[in-house]
Amino acid sequence: MTGHDGAGELRRLAHAVADLVVEHHLGLAASSPGSRATPEDLAGLDEPAPETPTPADAVLAQVTDQVLPYLLKADHPRSFAGVPSPADPVAAIADALATGLNLTTVNWSLAAGPSQVELLTARWLATALGMPAGSGGVFTSGGSTANLTAIAVARARLGAPAHDQVPTVYHGDQAHPGVGRALRVLGFTSGQIRVLPSDDDRLDPDTVRAAVTADRAAGRRPLVLIATAGTTNTGTVDPLAELARLCREERLWFHVDGAFGAAAALGTRGHTLLHGLSEADSITVDPHKWLFQPVGLGCLLLREPDALAATFHLRSDYLAAMHGREQSRDLGTSGIEFTRPCRAFRLWFTIKVRGLGALRQAVDHGLALARHLAARVRGRAEFELLTGPRLAVVCFTHRAAGNDAQAHQRISDLLLNPPRGFLLLPTRVRGRPCFRACTINPRTTEQDIDTLLDRIDELATATPPREPTGKARET
Ligand SMILES: Cc1ncc(COP(=O)(O)O)c(C=O)c1O
Repeated sequence: MTGHDGAGELRRLAHAVADLVVEHHLGLAASSPGSRATPEDLAGLDEPAPETPTPADAVLAQVTDQVLPYLLKADHPRSFAGVPSPADPVAAIADALATGLNLTTVNWSLAAGPSQVELLTARWLATALGMPAGSGGVFTSGGSTANLTAIAVARARLGAPAHDQVPTVYHGDQAHPGVGRALRVLGFTSGQIRVLPSDDDRLDPDTVRAAVTADRAAGRRPLVLIATAGTTNTGTVDPLAELARLCREERLWFHVDGAFGAAAALGTRGHTLLHGLSEADSITVDPHKWLFQPVGLGCLLLREPDALAATFHLRSDYLAAMHGREQSRDLGTSGIEFTRPCRAFRLWFTIKVRGLGALRQAVDHGLALARHLAARVRGRAEFELLTGPRLAVVCFTHRAAGNDAQAHQRISDLLLNPPRGFLLLPTRVRGRPCFRACTINPRTTEQDIDTLLDRIDELATATPPREPTGKARET
């Protein structure tokens, strides 16, 4: 296919794409963070796969007209929903290079450059989070797959239980729902999964110990505890140091899902908030969240990274020819993917170009913004603070919206309206409807936060409430 493309045409396409990427990043603050669409809005894309060529310019024009108006801009400075992905443009451009050169990391000896970049970057991350020397890991598509990988390693590492022992795993009721899904995918039945009630959103070590003791008495084999460093809903950190001790005493694998929050350990304040994190056997951290990478980059870090190859090794005549002497470094047999890209190239590039110090500052900025938001909420009588700041998450409500979930949803919809829309979604904290803001974007300013509160106040007290004016068409 590429043989038919002229070099000039390819260069033009590459430059046009590069311009689009750069314009996207430069224009973010002046644009809308997203819009809600209906299937009818996207009907223009619904066509049979064309048999004949379409000029690339025309395809790019269609992208601009019909795809880009409907982005969830997780990198937008006024996007506070979910856990945003405030991607650094340097990372995006590095990723274009990695994909453009088709960097694969299936096997160390034949793809040593990109493989070594991944292994090294995992070691950098482990060190940055305070893990002991020798720690390392594997990059994944995201936190869900990293958690799944961790549980698979833990199960393999702890060996087969006696035939009459039922392997049992533990996590709190505030764990990300992807943890339960990973356990189901790995074949754990509901009878093997203990979902423990939390106390103010945190796992209570006494509750964990009581469950483990009862299970042992019943002849079960407690395997893994999955704690959370930064729950998605409220940013709560489980008591990691206490849980680490408990796991050592009870011989449980201690996995910490820090997909959102572990990166906070890069800063001094966050390091204190995450005390005990470095004692985990394994940690999930998502660079596509608080390490400023475009979506598609999670990471599993382990104190003993050799456990990966021990769990996921493959054998075949065909592979024997591919392996060199450095088989233990083969990333295609260190996780659930075989053929895989050089996922971490963008993170390695970002750390090199920006310096780890800049990432630490950016992480601290997110924590400071959450403190600013909580302080402003506390200082205004019309608002009520429900939780936070916990890491970079604040949950709050406006008294005029009261306990009315629909009112919160309506205000959230109206906030999205151009020209200076905000993406802020409602949630519930202990049953109470409220707004939830995650403030990890380094481009978000205190002014953005103040304007957000003014805007909510305006919308909550307007009577009758204005209906949404439709989709934001601008990008
Ligand atoms: C604590 C936590 N764990 C896991 C996940 C899932 O990560 P991903 O969406 O990268 O699969 C999330 C996503 O927000 C999260 O906040």
